[in-house]
Amino acid sequence: MPGAIYAEGLVKTFGDVRALDGVDLDVPEGTVLGLLGPNGAGKTTAVRVLTTLLEPDSGKARVAGVDVLRHPDQVRRSIGLSGQFAAVDEYLTGRENLRMVGQLYQMGAREAKARASELLERFHLADAADRVAKTYSGGMRRRLDLAAALVVSPPVMFMDEPTTGLDPRNRQALWEVIQELVAGGTTLLLTTQYLEEADHLAHDICVIDRGRVIARGTSDQLKARTGGERVEVVVHEPGHIEVAEEVLRGFGKGEIAVQRHTRKVTVPVVGGAKLLAEVIRELDARGVEIDDIGLRRPTLDDVFISLTGHGAEGGDGAEEEVK
Ligand SMILES: Nc1ncnc2c1ncn2[C@@H]1O[C@H](COP(=O)(O)OP(=O)(O)OP(=O)(O)O)[C@@H](O)[C@H]1O
Ligand SMILES: [Mg+2]
Repeated sequence: MPGAIYAEGLVKTFGDVRALDGVDLDVPEGTVLGLLGPNGAGKTTAVRVLTTLLEPDSGKARVAGVDVLRHPDQVRRSIGLSGQFAAVDEYLTGRENLRMVGQLYQMGAREAKARASELLERFHLADAADRVAKTYSGGMRRRLDLAAALVVSPPVMFMDEPTTGLDPRNRQALWEVIQELVAGGTTLLLTTQYLEEADHLAHDICVIDRGRVIARGTSDQLKARTGGERVEVVVHEPGHIEVAEEVLRGFGKGEIAVQRHTRKVTVPVVGGAKLLAEVIRELDARGVEIDDIGLRRPTLDDVFISLTGHGAEGGDGAEEEVK
């Protein structure tokens, strides 16, 4: 049975640009799909098609079991959307914006008021709640837009780069709200440029580039594919590179890379921070002076390089199923 969000062969062109070039998606009910990709990959276009804001040139899509092209009104009633560009009314206060959304969704006045207060509190907007949104900073607007999307809890939600521009505290607050929603059964499609975020929130990840899905899998599958974690050491003395190599070989799970001019030695590892502490002790015991050491997790760019042989900017890649 197709999932709560289902798309097959979506194509959308803008002049010469194939913003979507045959995208298939299937998000099981009650799960989170992280749609990951660089600028211009087609993330927002996919969200706009699935939320009935844009008609595709071809392809099919169903959301909450309803055909997006045939019954857009019905789809709109079962979804929530938080966009990349905030949809708040500048001339209303934060509180008024949220209460208005509640009323649009036929919440009772008392319930709308309570929900507005709760969300203003959670997104650290309580102090600014009675100021018009026009006076909000960029990050405050972003939070108000997210809060607006969360006033009601529709069965299917779309969030387009929800945490872009949020400070760490508010990012954390949003992650918590999202986890609660999903625990309550909501299906969510979330776009992001951060692997870490998809890692934290998504059951499945779909990497897109130039309108095409270039990889799918769980975060662990993608990381394994990318080489997972690495320990990176910068030694103080060029003469210590060989000893550092020897030490890292003992802990590593793959090929060692040495960059002589930066005195950097890198090795893939499994074992996280605990292993890092052991590496430090061993280097110290062998008399290797360290300028810098760290555990590096794969970034979106690492995923791209490993999947396509190039960074997020160029080339073309066929889809690969990550196993
Ligand atoms: N209304 C439009 N008119 C013309 N071109 C468009 C339009 N909307 C999107 N595009 C183009 O389609 C491609 C995909 O854009 P889209 O906004 O979906 O990317 P994105 O993955 O959301 O990127 P970002 O990370 O920058 O938000 C881009 O090349 C963009 O320039
Ligand atoms: Mg976008």
